Amino acid sequence: MVPSIPLQLLLWVGFLCIGTLKFSSCVVDANTGCVERERQALLKFKQGLKDPSNRLSSWAGEDCCRWAGVRCNNKTRHVIMLDLRNMYRPPTASFPQDIFQVIVKNDGGDAYMRSCLSGEINPSLLELKYLNHLDLSMNRFGGIEIPKFIASLEELRYLNLSRSGFGGLVPHELGNLSSLRYLDINNDIYGFINAIYPDTLFELRVDSLHWISLLSSLEHLDMGSLDLSTVGDWLHSANMLPSISSLRLSGCMLGRIPTSPPYVNFTSSLSLLDLSDNALGPTIPAWLSNISGLVHLDLGSDHFRDFVPRTFGNLCELKGLYLSWNYFSGEISMFEESFSGCIRKSLEYLDLRDNGLSGYFPDWLGRTCC
Ligand SMILES: *[C@@H]1O[C@H](CO)[C@@H](O)[C@H](O)[C@H]1NC(C)=O
Ligand SMILES: *[C@@H]1O[C@H](CO)[C@@H](O)[C@H](O)[C@H]1NC(C)=O
Ligand SMILES: *[C@@H]1O[C@H](CO)[C@@H](O)[C@H](O)[C@H]1NC(C)=O
Ligand SMILES: *[C@@H]1O[C@H](CO)[C@@H](O)[C@H](O)[C@H]1NC(C)=O
Ligand SMILES: *[C@@H]1O[C@H](CO)[C@@H](O)[C@H](O)[C@H]1NC(C)=O
Repeated sequence: MVPSIPLQLLLWVGFLCIGTLKFSSCVVDANTGCVERERQALLKFKQGLKDPSNRLSSWAGEDCCRWAGVRCNNKTRHVIMLDLRNMYRPPTASFPQDIFQVIVKNDGGDAYMRSCLSGEINPSLLELKYLNHLDLSMNRFGGIEIPKFIASLEELRYLNLSRSGFGGLVPHELGNLSSLRYLDINNDIYGFINAIYPDTLFELRVDSLHWISLLSSLEHLDMGSLDLSTVGDWLHSANMLPSISSLRLSGCMLGRIPTSPPYVNFTSSLSLLDLSDNALGPTIPAWLSNISGLVHLDLGSDHFRDFVPRTFGNLCELKGLYLSWNYFSGEISMFEESFSGCIRKSLEYLDLRDNGLSGYFPDWLGRTCC
């Protein structure tokens, strides 16, 4: 026999359930609110920054997940992304000869500088334990070192500190970021910005690349314009990255490229290799054509003098080959053998500008390009 429950009690219990449900949904999965400790940490971080254009004006109020550049996990409400990239793009000269005009007019330079964040990077960021994406690119940190504590943000998968005026030595500690897939610390500063404001460019150095080889998830690495002149065997460290697909080492003062390394084991993963502006010449090493997955190869401004190796014809995926500003000379037809394999089908863009080449534009090149 079912015991009879007074109707009144039943109603009361039902009411309680609805009330409890409402309360818990408010705390756990209502897609609003943020973790108070993380909110405090962000406010402290903001205090350290100079923000002349008031980009962080939305950083007030309770729900830090709604602040500009902040994104939270929509279930846990933990901050997972901090994107403070300066989106203002300074105007650039399309042709080198126009750069003087741009400098004289200071066209947009001041506006760019105003939209940069600067100041200090407060270690309160460490409170953001679930941060997996940090982008501070295109700002202006005045030569301060990349903070070592960033290496303790263990969840980071994306770290972009490029073109932001960091200086000194890149900390080896970054090698602890074993989940990192993207690391961009390119130190190139828009040339004309540096011409108008001489205090924007700082030397950023790497004295060893051993720590790089610990980043076993790394797919994209950009160390453009860093001084790597003392690292020794950069290829050895790159070789240890099992998933690397894009490697940009433009203007790194590499000075040489191994002519016959014992092995290259990123041959199938690597699709983009930029070694431009490193004075690697005079000879393009044939082993580059072992990187069978290459889609984009930039060897511009590298003092190359000798021909393109014949084996380049086997680069069946290669779409863009950039060989401008080298010392190739003689008849352009001499390249024919290097472009005789399946590269003829794949190649879409070939840049041979500013070399000492002469002769008629050969048929076989015309067919590849148009
Ligand atoms: C939570 O975020 C994921 C992606 O991060 C999205 O697909 C999903 O729709 C979001 N859920 C809600 C309720 O907003
Ligand atoms: C890093 O930021 C710069 C400038 O904001 C951008 O151009 C670049 O593509 C970013 N790098 C990566 C790996 O996403
Ligand atoms: C990793 O971090 C520990 C401290 O947590 C430090 O002692 C070590 O040097 C770091 N490793 C690298 C490769 O920097
Ligand atoms: C690449 O080759 C080196 C040397 O043989 C080796 O130590 C390393 O583990 C290799 N990496 C991968 C991903 O195979
Ligand atoms: C490039 O490939 C050739 C032919 O398979 C091989 O003999 C050579 O050892 C490779 N070179 C490197 C550096 O991997």
